[in-house]
Amino acid sequence: MPSRRCVTMTCGICHMTIYYRYPALVLLVLSSTVLVVYFQSTKSLASHREIREYSLTQYTFEVNTQQFYTSSSSVLGNTLLRSGEERFLQINTNEAWVYSAFFDTINDKNLIRVFGIQPRNLQTPVFCYLKTNDQFTVIEGTRSLLVDGNGKRLRVVSYECWLTDGRRPDQVSITLKKTDSPTNTLQVLYPSLPRRNFTVCYAMLFDLTNYSQIIQNVEFNRVLGAEHFFVYNMSISSATDAVLRHYQKRGLMTILQWPMNISGIHYFGQVLAINDCVYRNKGVSKYVVIHDTDEMIVPNRQNSWKELIDQINDNFDQINDNSTSHETLGTYIFETTCFQDRPKGSLWSEIKRNYSISDEMENFFEKYSLTAFTDLLRLNTVWAGTRQKSIVRPDLVLFPDIHLTTTHRGSATQVVVNHSLALVHHQRKWSVSPSDILEVTALRFKDKVIPLVNETYLKLIKGHIIQ
Ligand SMILES: *[C@@H]1O[C@H](CO)[C@@H](O)[C@H](O)[C@H]1NC(C)=O
Ligand SMILES: *[C@@H]1O[C@H](CO)[C@@H](O)[C@H](O)[C@H]1NC(C)=O
Ligand SMILES: *[C@@H]1O[C@H](CO)[C@@H](O)[C@H](O)[C@H]1NC(C)=O
Ligand SMILES: *[C@@H]1O[C@H](CO)[C@@H](O)[C@H](O)[C@H]1NC(C)=O
Ligand SMILES: *[C@@H]1O[C@H](CO)[C@@H](O)[C@H](O)[C@H]1NC(C)=O
Ligand SMILES: *[C@@H]1O[C@H](CO)[C@@H](O)[C@H](O)[C@H]1NC(C)=O
Ligand SMILES: *[C@@H]1O[C@H](CO)[C@@H](O)[C@H](O)[C@H]1NC(C)=O
Ligand SMILES: *[C@@H]1O[C@H](CO)[C@@H](O)[C@H](O)[C@H]1NC(C)=O
Repeated sequence: MPSRRCVTMTCGICHMTIYYRYPALVLLVLSSTVLVVYFQSTKSLASHREIREYSLTQYTFEVNTQQFYTSSSSVLGNTLLRSGEERFLQINTNEAWVYSAFFDTINDKNLIRVFGIQPRNLQTPVFCYLKTNDQFTVIEGTRSLLVDGNGKRLRVVSYECWLTDGRRPDQVSITLKKTDSPTNTLQVLYPSLPRRNFTVCYAMLFDLTNYSQIIQNVEFNRVLGAEHFFVYNMSISSATDAVLRHYQKRGLMTILQWPMNISGIHYFGQVLAINDCVYRNKGVSKYVVIHDTDEMIVPNRQNSWKELIDQINDNFDQINDNSTSHETLGTYIFETTCFQDRPKGSLWSEIKRNYSISDEMENFFEKYSLTAFTDLLRLNTVWAGTRQKSIVRPDLVLFPDIHLTTTHRGSATQVVVNHSLALVHHQRKWSVSPSDILEVTALRFKDKVIPLVNETYLKLIKGHIIQ
């Protein structure tokens, strides 16, 4: 084994010492403010076990300048992503990309979980380059392919880097070959303190031009108990962009970039966005509500999601004859139906009379496309077992999905909520259906939703954000 060697470099802004066991290539690029170091081992390691044993010294850097680490560039790969700069970083020349990394714990074992996309039959080893404070370590990781029944060539993947000591890495890079040097670096996100009870994850907005749908959804959900919203920006119109920024400025919305141009993945990698969103809310939000911008989970009798969840929990405990059994509920699954037509003629007049809808209010519904209050005729069927949407507890789910959770943590489980308690209201024309039925549940919330919608439009118009 080569003896341990040491290189010390001194330059204008830094002093750096690199220890290494093998001959290595060290390349320094210096600009006026940012120092970037590329460090590549020129000798491949004999075995994965060896990597574990030797990793600490092999990749230890000692750098005595703060400036180095506060720059936005990273030693390991290319640019370190900052908030608002999210994108898909390719893993060398593989048909594989990473998007985000989270500190996680499974059965008391800590790990860094990296979400990405790769071919479903790719079975190479996984190497994790971890940066902890100023130290670098390489370990071999594992992978879990997320369930996806769509048969596409690419799948969402979770790369797992298991930590064997108390280390808390702040950056991670993934490679799939021992001899590859990393081309990607992600900031590791850690769970923060509880701040919310209900957060909504919308997944990605694709070709979204209709901002009235977003305003209706955000304001209705706020009445139901939503405290914050996450959206993934793939492609939106300039007016929608302005509306999102309005909510962002008010602290109601987190916008993540989703510049997805990878083909061969189901629905622009939606499952990755959902998992990313739920993991970002782990520890932060007790519940995460997952649905699209034209859907709402509306309780039939309760006035909020909180009351609804309490009722579901009570029912669950009664069935199990155990007053704490609901603590295992990781996923609440809601059945779906489509609200697709407007009642007309005498029926609409009767609804207006019964629910005190003035002509002014009706105009308001029309002007701002408040279809939740006008399109009250829905399919006479509800979809169970397909097309449902769910509310999850981030602490109890491992891999959530757009309709339900594919894997729970530990002994956590799920419940299908009886549609007599609540339904997903999907605002969309599904089919020509003479058997549509009238359902006015949403009108119970109009007196709380209207002032919020009104206030938002007044602000947007006053700020010349929309006409
Ligand atoms: C969440 O709900 C609990 C129980 O109702 C309440 O005590 C708590 O204040 C809520 N937390 C937040 C952040 O709203
Ligand atoms: C926007 O969506 C609503 C339904 O939410 C629909 O009624 C309205 O016509 C749409 N507006 C445009 C401009 O497409
Ligand atoms: C959404 O994405 C587009 C295209 O990348 C970008 O120009 C725009 O600034 C983004 N908007 C927001 C609100 O993040
Ligand atoms: C996606 O777009 C980026 C930037 O335009 C480009 O560098 C990259 O090669 C594209 N990736 C794919 C898979 O097309
Ligand atoms: C009640 O449910 C909790 C949570 O699932 C479980 O830990 C406990 O053992 C159950 N109690 C009984 C008496 O079954
Ligand atoms: C309106 O109210 C009357 C009297 O309570 C009731 O008979 C009727 O079914 C209601 N109609 C609608 C559409 O809600
Ligand atoms: C749903 O609730 C209704 C009304 O309480 C009840 O009649 C029905 O049996 C329930 N359905 C299921 C599948 O539990
Ligand atoms: C919206 O707010 C304005 C200004 O406060 C008020 O004049 C108007 O009546 C409100 N519209 C509705 C439908 O509540």
